[in-house]
Amino acid sequence: ANGYELLKDYSKGFRIGAATNTIHYNNANYVNAMKAFNYMVAENACKFVSIQYTKGNFNFNDCDAHLNKAKELGMDFRGHALIWHSMAPKWLENEDSNTMKNSIINHITTVLKHYEGKIDTWDVVNEAIDDSSNGNGWKMRNSFLYQKVPNFIDLAFQTARQVSPKTKLFYNDYNTEGIWGKSESVYQFIADLKKRNIPIDGVGLQYHVSVQNQPQYNKINDLIGRYCKLGVEVHITELDVSCESSCWASDVESKQATVFTNALKACLANSCCTGFLVWGIGDPDSWLGNDKKGLLFNGNYQPKSQYTALLNVLKTT
Ligand code: G3I
Repeated sequence: ANGYELLKDYSKGFRIGAATNTIHYNNANYVNAMKAFNYMVAENACKFVSIQYTKGNFNFNDCDAHLNKAKELGMDFRGHALIWHSMAPKWLENEDSNTMKNSIINHITTVLKHYEGKIDTWDVVNEAIDDSSNGNGWKMRNSFLYQKVPNFIDLAFQTARQVSPKTKLFYNDYNTEGIWGKSESVYQFIADLKKRNIPIDGVGLQYHVSVQNQPQYNKINDLIGRYCKLGVEVHITELDVSCESSCWASDVESKQATVFTNALKACLANSCCTGFLVWGIGDPDSWLGNDKKGLLFNGNYQPKSQYTALLNVLKTT
């Protein structure tokens, strides 16, 4: 027993999870904290460069190891991410348009076939909208993907649907939670994909926020509601709440707890919001760094007030 109540025991089947990394699996405290969740995503192991570092040589070892751990602990598993301009191998960046197009198709096909029946949801495209998008339409990120294969998003979703018709296909991005203009742009972009019958099933709101820049409950609740009306699912995919410029303050933890509370409440208030994941287990393994106190478990992998806050939301919803 963990000595505290587990989120998964109060989730009534709702998927509540975290990003994990096999480099920490030899830490018993870390693995014990993983048991709070019923859903998992690999922080890095299932990305393009991790699986296909060398062209044509698919190495599934680390991604498989995450999936096996999830199975062992009774967790469902989320795929992240098929096509992304970052964590892409150098060889891909250097290809000409036509070759790159074929490499995109080949990667999606091979990975989805390998995980057919084992991973039911994938981020097909990650972070393709430019940060300067202000809500009046959207601007594509000027990445090597966009430069060489301008229709790579349509291509990626169409390929994924064709090779694996049952897999749920998500678009995933940050600054999409109703604070920034980009949120509205990404909404319009998703609406356009739907309108053009590009096969997309869901949108991932990454939710990397801070005490200083946090979504207001009504705004995030509205936004998720609008996605529901559009006919897509929503996942909160990478939640963390940095203490940013107030890490010294004595009330910072309770302020962070409020942000976690609002996020989970808004998700549970909308029936199309079907998954909720934090980006890491504890502060020591967070990409933000330990000092940003962004996650649910402390340096000893004991739960913080943020964890209790989520537990209370689940108990009272
Ligand atoms: O694998 C190499 C290793 O061989 C090398 O020795 C080492 C030296 O720096 O780097 C290792 O790669 C690192 C990789 O994580 C694996 O540990 C990269 O430098 C490092 O940049 C990479 O960071 C990850 C980042 O995505 C990559 O862009 C973070 O751990 C991960 O938390 C972060 O996650 C992203 C999501 O995928 C998408 N949304 C934003 C989120 C946070 O940035």
